Amino acid sequence: MTKTHFILFITVVSFTVFILGCGDDDELSVQETCTPTPSFTTKIEGIQQRDGNAAIGREFLIYGDYVSSGVPYESYIAAFGANTDNILDRTGDNANVRFDFSAVDAPNGVRVVAPNCLQCHASTINGEFVMGLGNAGANFTTDQSSLLPLVDAFIFGQFGEGSPEWEAYQPFRLATAATAPYLVADVKGANPADKLAAVLSAHRDANTLEWNETPAYEIPEQLIPTDVPPWWVLKKKNAMFYSALGNGDFCRFLMGSSLLTMENETIAAELDDKFPDLLAYLNTLEAPPYPQTINTTLAETGKVIFTENCQECHGTYGAEASFPNLLVDLARIGTDPLLVNGYSGTHYEYMINWFNNGWFGQDPNGGQLVSRNGYLAQPLDGIWATAPYLHNGAVPTLEDLLNSSQRPTFWKRSFNTSDIDYEKVGWNYSVETSKVDTDTYDTTKEGYGNQGHTFGDNLTTSERTALIEYLKTI
Ligand code: HEC
Ligand code: HEC
Repeated sequence: MTKTHFILFITVVSFTVFILGCGDDDELSVQETCTPTPSFTTKIEGIQQRDGNAAIGREFLIYGDYVSSGVPYESYIAAFGANTDNILDRTGDNANVRFDFSAVDAPNGVRVVAPNCLQCHASTINGEFVMGLGNAGANFTTDQSSLLPLVDAFIFGQFGEGSPEWEAYQPFRLATAATAPYLVADVKGANPADKLAAVLSAHRDANTLEWNETPAYEIPEQLIPTDVPPWWVLKKKNAMFYSALGNGDFCRFLMGSSLLTMENETIAAELDDKFPDLLAYLNTLEAPPYPQTINTTLAETGKVIFTENCQECHGTYGAEASFPNLLVDLARIGTDPLLVNGYSGTHYEYMINWFNNGWFGQDPNGGQLVSRNGYLAQPLDGIWATAPYLHNGAVPTLEDLLNSSQRPTFWKRSFNTSDIDYEKVGWNYSVETSKVDTDTYDTTKEGYGNQGHTFGDNLTTSERTALIEYLKTI
């Protein structure tokens, strides 16, 4: 054993304190040392990722054809006009397109406007555009396929059926029609990306990646919602996603969005060569600094509280940063289990086998989806900017996260990204008595629960205030 961790576990029911000495690197001895209580955390190991060129990766992210079908560029301009803010400073046709779309050439040469990663992975906060900040306001509360007849009629009217423009739009159209009915969330901001991947996998051959109109299995209707993690924490993580599901080569997971329109394995192999550059770019991103004044004396006090109560799972920050990559069992973390159970149960079973045994799992550079019985304690860099909190975004502020009795059951925010509560740190919100509309987060719904992670509950109000002040600095 090279390292020893002392894990302090307080059972809420009996208030009994167990002190367990658990080795990181030897599963067996963990089991033995920790009996009769099971081990509650698992160290996640990673692999050396492929190298890439970050500057090329950024270009690929904002100009690349990793989604290669969409609305013809001419139709987009005719419908919406040229976009004028050009937040990304892009050139050519892309200067006229909103940041979360890219103008790319479809395989048949037609210029199309396709959605890009920034639909979900960029946002403004406090008036600043932040690359890699999860879009906490994306609206997936309606079935987007209801819009298709309108778009069809528009493109059809402009170019006619059988035109190259119509053809270039088809892969996007088919994928939208097949997936959108399954992507309906209960509240704005809840993201359906996991389900999107699952539905696409049901429609593509695992090896050739060709599209099949009939899904391979009966896809469950329920949506398992998540928040969107920020990109700047990825460099610390040994496995991707909230439950450390994404193992092995990260690029295979970054390619997930390409499943929308990627027509075969030849195109997949070409794209696969470009994603190491994109990964290199993601690894250059840093959290945005807290925009208001910080009380440094109070933050120093808060740091001590963090070291005692939080560091074991979330690591250290500042000059000597370290990150333990610990997966915390459901039994200990107690947060909403639906996502974890979705991967260990039947909900995502087809996708896991499809991925691991098909093109995506193949070496060289295969990825592996590994279901686990808990959530990864995330890096907390830039945590002030990434409300709402927990994997499903059920908690609006850090203060509520650190005091579970204060968490609102129904809460509503404005979705204005400057409407920030700088004291509680997170979104300003109103407490509601029931679900009013799709802006209201209803934590009583399955998958949207706000329970668990009670590690701040025993702190005093002033300790909590100091801890929050420290969290602003990291
Ligand atoms: C429809 C919204 C959406 C789009 C589009 C999207 N993502 Fe994601 N992404 C998510 C969500 C949601 C998660 C978290 C899923 C989970 O952990 O269960 C995620 C997770 C990730 C992560 C893992 C972060 C971590 O810390 O574990 C990376 C990296 C990532 N996405 C990169 C990309 C790239 C690159 C693209 C474009 C090629 C992309 N995503 C497109 C929604 C999206
Ligand atoms: C036993 C391990 C453990 C301890 C101790 C712990 N956490 Fe966590 N923390 C987690 C896990 C696991 C998650 C993810 C839970 C989820 O999303 O369902 C998490 C999530 C969070 C989040 C939300 C992250 C996000 O992106 O939404 C914050 C903030 C946080 N913890 C802060 C703290 C603070 C502050 C402390 C100390 C009072 C603390 N944690 C103590 C394991 C721990």
